[in-house]
Amino acid sequence: MIPRDTIEKIIDASHVEEVVGEFVTLKKRGTNLLGLCPFHGEKTPSFTVSPTKGIYKCFGCGKAGNSVNFVMDHLQLSYPEALKWLAKKYGIEVKEREITPEEKQQQTEKESMLIVMQYAQRYFTDNMNQTDEGLSVGRGYFISRGLRDDIVERFKLGYSLNERTAFSEAAVKAAYLPEYLVKTGMSILSNRYQEGQPITQSDVFDRYNGRVMFPIHDDGGRVVAFGGRTLSNDKKVAKYINSPETSIYNKSKILYGLWQGKKAIQEHDKAYLVEGYMDVIAMHQNGIENVVASSGTSLTVDQIKAIHRFTKNVVVLYDGDSAGQKASNRAIPLLLEEGMNVKLLTFPDNDDPDSFSAKVGNEAFKKYIDENTIDFIYYKASRIKAHSNDPIERANVIKDIVDNISLIPDNITRSVYIRECAQLMEMQEQTLQFEVNKIRRKKGEKFAPPETNEPIEPAASEQLVEPLPEEPIFKFEGEERQLLRLMIRYGFHLIPTLAEDDEKNEHSLDITLTEFILFELWRDHIAFENPLHQAVLDYYTHAYQNNQNPSVDSLRNAPDPLVSHFVIDQVIDKHDISGGWNKFGVQITDERLELKKAVQHLLFSYKEKLVRKFIDEHQTKLQLAQSEEEVNQLLDEMKGLIEMKKRVNKLLGRIVVR
Ligand code: GTP
Ligand code: MN
Repeated sequence: MIPRDTIEKIIDASHVEEVVGEFVTLKKRGTNLLGLCPFHGEKTPSFTVSPTKGIYKCFGCGKAGNSVNFVMDHLQLSYPEALKWLAKKYGIEVKEREITPEEKQQQTEKESMLIVMQYAQRYFTDNMNQTDEGLSVGRGYFISRGLRDDIVERFKLGYSLNERTAFSEAAVKAAYLPEYLVKTGMSILSNRYQEGQPITQSDVFDRYNGRVMFPIHDDGGRVVAFGGRTLSNDKKVAKYINSPETSIYNKSKILYGLWQGKKAIQEHDKAYLVEGYMDVIAMHQNGIENVVASSGTSLTVDQIKAIHRFTKNVVVLYDGDSAGQKASNRAIPLLLEEGMNVKLLTFPDNDDPDSFSAKVGNEAFKKYIDENTIDFIYYKASRIKAHSNDPIERANVIKDIVDNISLIPDNITRSVYIRECAQLMEMQEQTLQFEVNKIRRKKGEKFAPPETNEPIEPAASEQLVEPLPEEPIFKFEGEERQLLRLMIRYGFHLIPTLAEDDEKNEHSLDITLTEFILFELWRDHIAFENPLHQAVLDYYTHAYQNNQNPSVDSLRNAPDPLVSHFVIDQVIDKHDISGGWNKFGVQITDERLELKKAVQHLLFSYKEKLVRKFIDEHQTKLQLAQSEEEVNQLLDEMKGLIEMKKRVNKLLGRIVVR
């Protein structure tokens, strides 16, 4: 029993946004926070957390409650278990009586199973550290694979003795019921057991003997299963034995490493997906903690949803061998369909992340990852190079890419990929768009029949055809792109400016070109028309707020493909910008000064064009205005616009261009 005042202390300490934030990445929206609901699968966030009210509510599925409810619901805990979980999180001591064996029996089945697993984990760890066999064989094995002590401790690794009933005996002696040893899959019923009889110790033997043990945690940090690796090289012995599916271990939902990695996944807004236990562990040892593995099964939709709660960005790191490639080809469509941004990384030969990092060392490993992570579309396209003369192979690869692109739920992202693919394959964008539409239409028809009972006329079904998207006409396409291009290419260059101090004295001050452009856009509250351009600008704004000026490399590897593709586009562009300056009438003499002139000229003529557009729009509105109030407001705004126009024109006139 938990005393009343302790309960109050726990509830007081538990801030709902912190508790929910452990399991869901939350973004600020006004006074609330918004994220993907962990209770039902969704791709756009409708899960709202209100820190001031101390509650969460999902507008999709209707689940709502406070911190304690959340923990109970999400981790499937009873009320006292949820309180204890929160107490642990906030370092609050809960003084409770030791539970007696009778009470142990009274607890619900799931709780009993979880307690068995907790016991088993400690038992295997103690075996490894405190018995001769454990030290020489188990610990020795991990040492031979180069694992550091802190990593062995972080993953709670252990060893099961090479005796048929060592674990079962110890567990029964510690008052755990044989029934639960079997239910958790830790022990196996012998065929001597008589159906209907109570299970006794003599009816069971261990599932794991003479294996190193990898506990598998759920994302609340509770041990729900184990993987046990053999130490023998005998090919006839199963390399890994995993826990069976149980009421606490839902294989298709659990990801190995999520508990240890979720903080890092949130921080980096990216998850690495690997194949094995040892890969997750090796990545941690190399300082990369945002990593999970889909151990026990091939990647499932539910596992992807579990990742999606923390990030949209996944890098798939499967073995370079053919099994690994097959696995990636299975994983990519699932990831895309869930709306994830998918990148890939393969290792040379038959290396996996663990063996490769052991071979090349920490620095080279990290460098390899940074330099070789590519977008899924390049990964797919890269296969064509080997068959460049084979039109059938080429067609197959294109079809595969188109199939994959058509799975992407977001319209803009899909268009970006279509453009990318068109360039890569040297094809017409429209042709690809048409193919993608065709596939989407087919699926749409299958899953969403038209809502009418009337027979469908040919003409009506024709309307189901998604029209080719018209290239949106953005009036300021060119200016926006040029500004971004200058930032991408010359963002680090310094621009001499004059700044006023508090006493209105002017000082010369050098700021970066990135800052210069950002300040100029902010001062007139300018947002870009083209959402793609705005996404890139947002990326810069975000970086600036974190005191960073993104390099071309970091932009190219930006997790958001909208940004990285745009940047690649700008960088590989054939028309070098210095030639392009002539377009603005600028001769290049002193590069630093000329860059400033070019940027200013571009910025101010852009602003001038913008302000003219606003004024035009206002004049139209004035003619249509219904009330005096409306007219006055429009006139007010007009005054501001005309002032801006004057200011911009004056600045424009000051730039001496020849
Ligand atoms: P090491 O050989 O110790 O580096 O392990 P690994 O993780 O590299 O193993 P591997 O690449 O062979 O397998 C990847 C994952 O598949 C493992 O981590 C296990 O989850 C799973 N796996 C491998 N072998 C078996 C097996 O024999 N049985 C089962 N059930 N799973 C296996
Ligand atoms: Mn391996």
